[in-house]
Amino acid sequence: MIDLYRRNIDYLRVSITDRCNLHCRYCLPPGLETAEKDRERYLTKEEILRVCRAAETIGIHKFKITGGEPLVRPEALEIIRELKALPGTEAVTLTTNGLLLKKALPELQKLSIDGINVSLDTLKPERFSWITGLNRDGRELWSGVLETLKEGAFMGIPMKINCVPIRGFNEDEILDFVELTRELPVDVRFIELMPIGEGKAFQGRDKEELLAVIRKVYPDFKETAEKRGNGPAVYGKVPGFAGYVGFIEALHGKFCSSCNRLRLTSEGFLKPCLYYRRGVDLKALLRGGAGEKELEEALCQAILQKPEAHHFQERDPEREAEETFMARIGG
Ligand code: GTP
Ligand code: 5AD
Repeated sequence: MIDLYRRNIDYLRVSITDRCNLHCRYCLPPGLETAEKDRERYLTKEEILRVCRAAETIGIHKFKITGGEPLVRPEALEIIRELKALPGTEAVTLTTNGLLLKKALPELQKLSIDGINVSLDTLKPERFSWITGLNRDGRELWSGVLETLKEGAFMGIPMKINCVPIRGFNEDEILDFVELTRELPVDVRFIELMPIGEGKAFQGRDKEELLAVIRKVYPDFKETAEKRGNGPAVYGKVPGFAGYVGFIEALHGKFCSSCNRLRLTSEGFLKPCLYYRRGVDLKALLRGGAGEKELEEALCQAILQKPEAHHFQERDPEREAEETFMARIGG
């Protein structure tokens, strides 16, 4: 469906849980727990699939399974399997922190998952323990994530790394991440930190700053117009390297004019934009006996509410008053 600003909305990000087995300091900080026992609060697998089916009817054919950490939900693979089997599905991808990925990889390969993004903010294990809020040595978890990434790539699954550069934390690792792409056929993407929830306590780095660092060592780093996935990343590459380097200018980027997505939160709200108040309450509709047509209309309504651009810079008190952290929105 085309929205008011002539954008084609064909992508739905589906957060299947706001729980996470890590507590990254800028995302779901230590001490902040989600309401895991309150199952009523979350959409069931059947409800999620009903929404996706309705979404396909109005022209949405690409889906991202996200969280929280999606793989902590026991039904995650079933949701992916059933979503892949819907008649209008073109692509289903997964964004995960990688902790539970190793065990899931063979099944995901069998299901022909279209891509897996793994969050990894540091290549230094001691820093991993700190940023992920572990109160123990995270060395083993960190090396497991890195191994699983390589295994996925070896299995032929398109794999991407998501790294959020943070001032004073990992900004000295940019070149190490680029170096990873020399042999590894994975895309490393640098995400600009967004001032959402705990993200406000940290400072990110923007694309131009990163490019300057990269070009000093790799002067022939070349930006490309090639589209790699369904998201807002733009890519470049060191000639001869196996993988690409991507940039997601989440804050300063001008990608709103090509925004193609809606978000479904684990509690059943449809968000027309990442930075948006509650959104359309689909759970109330689903549990109030709504039929397919009403679901489709609600999706269309959310699309028509899509703002022309995000308004991170303008503080919206109503929006800020919501207990919002990234894990709840779905990244
Ligand atoms: P693929 O490349 O197709 O896997 O899509 P993607 O990059 O959207 O996937 P992923 O879930 O890995 O998201 C990466 C980052 O992009 C996350 O930090 C998201 O919050 C950010 N992002 C995705 N969509 C938007 C958006 O519409 N606006 C903003 N500001 N950031 C977004
Ligand atoms: N700003 C930018 N990226 C964020 N993520 C989580 N919180 C933020 C934030 N405030 C990233 C995670 C994950 C992706 C889905 O979103 O690191 O890789």
